[in-house]
Amino acid sequence: MNNTLGWMLLLGLCALVGGCGGEQANTKPTAESTGGPVEASPGAGNISRARLENASREPEQWLTYGGSYDETRHSALTKINRDTLSDLGIGWVYEMKKPRGVEATPIVVDGTMYVSGAWSVVYALDARSGEELWVYDPGVSGEAAAKGCCDVVNRGVAVYDGKVYVGVFDGRLEALDASTGEVVWSQVTVDQSLPYTITGAPRVFKDKVIIGNGGAELGVRGYVTAYDAATGEQAWRFYTVPNPNKEPDGAASDAIFAQLANETWGDTGAWTTEGGGGTVWDTIVYDAANDQVLLGVGNGSPWNAQIRDPDSNGDNLFLASIVAVDADTGAYRWHYQTTPRDTWDYTATQPMVLADLPLGPDGADRRVVMQAPKNGFFYILDAADGELISATPFAEMSWATGIDENGRPIEVPEARSLEEDFVMLPGPTGAHNWHPMSYNPDTGLVYIPTNVLPGLFSRPDGEEAPESNWNINFREDAGWPLAMPNEMLGELRSSAGGALLAWDPVKAEPRWAVPFPVPFNGGTLSLASGLVFQANKGGELVAYDAETGARVWSHGLVGGPGAAPVTYEVDGEQYMAVLSGWGSTIAMGFGLLFEDAVTPELGRVLAFKLGGTGTLPKPLDMGIARTPKSPLLGDEAQQLHGLSMYAANCQWCHGAFAISSGVLPDLRWSAVTATDTGWDAVVRDGALSAQGMMGVADRLSKEDTDAIRAYVVKQAWDAVARGDADAPGDDAVAAN
Ligand code: HEC
Repeated sequence: MNNTLGWMLLLGLCALVGGCGGEQANTKPTAESTGGPVEASPGAGNISRARLENASREPEQWLTYGGSYDETRHSALTKINRDTLSDLGIGWVYEMKKPRGVEATPIVVDGTMYVSGAWSVVYALDARSGEELWVYDPGVSGEAAAKGCCDVVNRGVAVYDGKVYVGVFDGRLEALDASTGEVVWSQVTVDQSLPYTITGAPRVFKDKVIIGNGGAELGVRGYVTAYDAATGEQAWRFYTVPNPNKEPDGAASDAIFAQLANETWGDTGAWTTEGGGGTVWDTIVYDAANDQVLLGVGNGSPWNAQIRDPDSNGDNLFLASIVAVDADTGAYRWHYQTTPRDTWDYTATQPMVLADLPLGPDGADRRVVMQAPKNGFFYILDAADGELISATPFAEMSWATGIDENGRPIEVPEARSLEEDFVMLPGPTGAHNWHPMSYNPDTGLVYIPTNVLPGLFSRPDGEEAPESNWNINFREDAGWPLAMPNEMLGELRSSAGGALLAWDPVKAEPRWAVPFPVPFNGGTLSLASGLVFQANKGGELVAYDAETGARVWSHGLVGGPGAAPVTYEVDGEQYMAVLSGWGSTIAMGFGLLFEDAVTPELGRVLAFKLGGTGTLPKPLDMGIARTPKSPLLGDEAQQLHGLSMYAANCQWCHGAFAISSGVLPDLRWSAVTATDTGWDAVVRDGALSAQGMMGVADRLSKEDTDAIRAYVVKQAWDAVARGDADAPGDDAVAAN
């Protein structure tokens, strides 16, 4: 790679909603005030267009990803409240069939829960008991799994007119019969020879279902496609970046590219061969009042703008933007770019919330869209035309000092020029990631799970980056020490954290914040009873007072959840359900942030109810001793080569410094490190490829993979030296 600029991250790796607005959930629902269910519901998954449009009038259900089209994640249910909280306990627990990360928001309709887990497997459960009704496994291959930046997660399904829609990791969009789980139609939405993946939840509007995709870290071109919900026939497609020749695609985006976006890109550079990025991998919101779809657009591919597009200084539309398109045709309406010419992985894919806020003339209500994207500014835009109303830092930032009169960030020049190493805040994982935020119209507050995790961007000292299938164009290992002393781990841990932030969007200021020691805590749910629920990486579900942030209730979970809770009511009982297990953007890469050893955990649905007396499931015990399985191998030069190769090829799945976050095996304790033949079988020849561990013999030499083994074993012994692991007995470590 022509890596004249190149950079590295200290920690390596790559790194929401109410048209309900006013009417939504301000008052306690009674049959009279809500008008009752919009219609009777005899069949499974019987969600009509009218029910979707009026979802907030049926708080007993959770009909769509964000709870309603405005995706406020605010429920009018009030049986769970401060007086009854002490009675809240486990109602039921469901254990998912396949391991790995879970991030989904369940959909609940007429007593059935539809939820997705790892590997895009869909589960239909009785919402009262957790009893399994059906399971659908789309059979994602290990090879497809290996294309993901951030695990085989899935953030949820959509349900409409008797069908359940799932975006499958390998790029399919499938409609399942809601009563049986059988496939009704299946569409391949991407070129499956390219590293596209789908982890986001589809959204349904006006008889259409829409899905985006991910993959910018490995090199793809972003777009969304809307399909006829009944037949799967394509209705329209909108690309987020031009094609390399800047020629029409025959897509809804053609006109705006010719008019505006093409000229913001040069004619050469890595974007012309590597897709340019701009993937819409998470948030797509239907704004019913304006009959438009809002797309949250991602980072550039590759990240490094100087490599991506060297001969223009253009904004690279529509990277890192919110784009509004016509719901019927996909035609462009407006856009707002949060990070022009993104070079730091500052996606604008984060959850968007629609609401009516008193921000119009003389305090009149104005319909707005709110987003807290990775770059650390909280944006409020007029939903009708995208006009910027306010942009206020909600997190500490080193890259910009504010927003200028044209609505553009005022960049700190050093953050872009990288004349010297630069500590980026927020780092590439963002001040806020996919974890949903919620909005309570009574308190007027938005509850955001925020992250602090700096990233160091630097020049690679003119060296070529090592061979890697990651496509972000910086060095991922520059300057790393071979050994990780306790002090350095301590410094890294103390530089990271997060908070549950209650943000007043009208005053554009924080109201209260609850700090956490680690980032990537769960999405939030707001209740009309004045509570906010959130699961955190410490493994608890916690209720906070929505006005003050006082912690009023908590219950243990298993694992380190990231998903957002939902609430619903069946047979007069209110439930609070959340996915427990591991899951969070790139949680895989950050095991080093955890003081205590983290171990693999199963995905589970935990449903709480008043009077629930269930017990917490036992954590998974894999029976893997935290001991080195091989004597030290090689010399320092070989181990250092291993570090560089590990950083470029293994850490985004197995964790920086070979410290796993618990999603995938911690290689330090792996029995596979014990022998040369065992290591080669897995690492070179792909013995575990069905699980997503592809052999690397085609890319890396035996010398490289031997060096990686030497590095991993060295990390194991260093952990023993730090007191983080046990030394094996004398005879346990066979000489190789
Ligand atoms: C795309 C993600 C991904 C990348 C990149 C990756 N791995 Fe893996 N690796 C996996 C998965 C998934 C498994 C677990 C398979 C299973 O469930 O058995 C695994 C398992 C392993 C195991 C077996 C561990 C055990 O005890 O069962 C070894 C050894 C291993 N990987 C080494 C490596 C090395 C070395 C690299 C870099 C050259 C690497 N991996 C890169 C996903 C990845």
